[in-house]
Amino acid sequence: MLSVKRIDENYPVYVQEFWTNKQRQMHSMHYSISYRASFKPELPNYFIQKYAKDLSQVIMDPFSGRGTTILQANLMGFRAIHNDLSPISFFIVKSRQVIPDFEEFLHRLRKIPFKKHRKEPNKQEKEKFYPFYHPDTFKEILNLREEYIHNKEDPVLRYIVFIALTRLHGHSDGFFSVYSFPQFSVSPEAQRRNNVKRNIKPEYKDIQSRIIKKYQTDHKDELPKHYRISKWNEYYQLNSTNLYLIPDNYVDLIITSPPFLDKVDYVKDNWLKAWFLDLEEEMNSISFGIYRDLEEWKEFMKKSLKEMIRIIKKFGRIVIEVGEVKYKKQKLYLDNVLADLIQKNFSNVVVEELNINSQKFTKLSNCWKIMNNEKGTNTNRCLVIKKIHSELVIKNSVNQSRLFLVKKYL
Ligand SMILES: C[S@@+](CC[C@H](N)C(=O)[O-])C[C@H]1O[C@@H](n2cnc3c(N)ncnc32)[C@H](O)[C@@H]1O
Repeated sequence: MLSVKRIDENYPVYVQEFWTNKQRQMHSMHYSISYRASFKPELPNYFIQKYAKDLSQVIMDPFSGRGTTILQANLMGFRAIHNDLSPISFFIVKSRQVIPDFEEFLHRLRKIPFKKHRKEPNKQEKEKFYPFYHPDTFKEILNLREEYIHNKEDPVLRYIVFIALTRLHGHSDGFFSVYSFPQFSVSPEAQRRNNVKRNIKPEYKDIQSRIIKKYQTDHKDELPKHYRISKWNEYYQLNSTNLYLIPDNYVDLIITSPPFLDKVDYVKDNWLKAWFLDLEEEMNSISFGIYRDLEEWKEFMKKSLKEMIRIIKKFGRIVIEVGEVKYKKQKLYLDNVLADLIQKNFSNVVVEELNINSQKFTKLSNCWKIMNNEKGTNTNRCLVIKKIHSELVIKNSVNQSRLFLVKKYL
């Protein structure tokens, strides 16, 4: 294992194998659902172990996604706060607040009228869904969806629907669809082209047996007793730039990964999931910012950081995972951009360190700017920020925190 420390940009940088690059080493529930740009559960696990010393502490993720931080916090016995603008993310994370045991789950599943007769889908529906599903599979999906729409508050049914959501489209026989992409929903046209190219067509998939099998896979690892702390979690669907429902100095540790400077279209990429969960209208009404311009992203992050700093307790930490991105044909290190933004704008926090998780590199010099030899690979670059005063002081001219840092680390 290689461990390097360097004073860089007036905060220390550590390059190390902080957590393993091996796949699927943590609790089986983490691997239940694919989610674009999610981080490995080892990442929150590492920082929770490092910074959360006492089980009364509260852990939050303001860009929670599939809820990796929230799940890991609960598995370790900590209360957690979820926030994400997306109602799909809200559904995913909230559905795991209470996990039914297998008997309860089976009992409720067997009450769902999967085979109930329905009238033929209309032409538009056929065009939209038949590239993915066999007509009989689609009928079962529709029956499950209808049951959910009429019983949205039933937590056991919600969990069944969550498992069905994880099986909606993907590339193995365990999914309800013909061979498709698991992480995002492609358009019906793209799926049709894919079917022609691969010479495949949707075959009948019994959805009930697949849901049961998936429950068993996800629960291969036992749920720790202290997971019950999840009852005390809080769930929000706020814009990260205005977390007005969360009080000042309330959270002990934030572990998060904001949207990068990129082109993710949350609505388009999630159309099938949004339809299945009856969230199409809500998804379409939300304005997810797509930040292609660096200055716009910085403005968005400045407002989000102001909120994160407001809600974090004195001496609490904010761990922000960002990667390197291609911007105007150049590699841009967003951790540098964020550190600069913080040091220029907020004097009640310090940039404590940058942790770069890495395993192999051929030259030591690669550690600082290029993490390995693979082209375009994102690295885990985690900036650790510590709050040193409770009051929010926006800086004007004198850069006190820089002086503080230089004294502290050199
Ligand atoms: C990089 S993903 C986070 C993935 C997460 N770390 C995980 O492991 O699943 C970024 C998330 O930010 C959410 N998001 C985008 N803009 C947002 C905003 N303005 N406020 C709150 N959440 C936002 C997206 O819905 C997405 O789930």
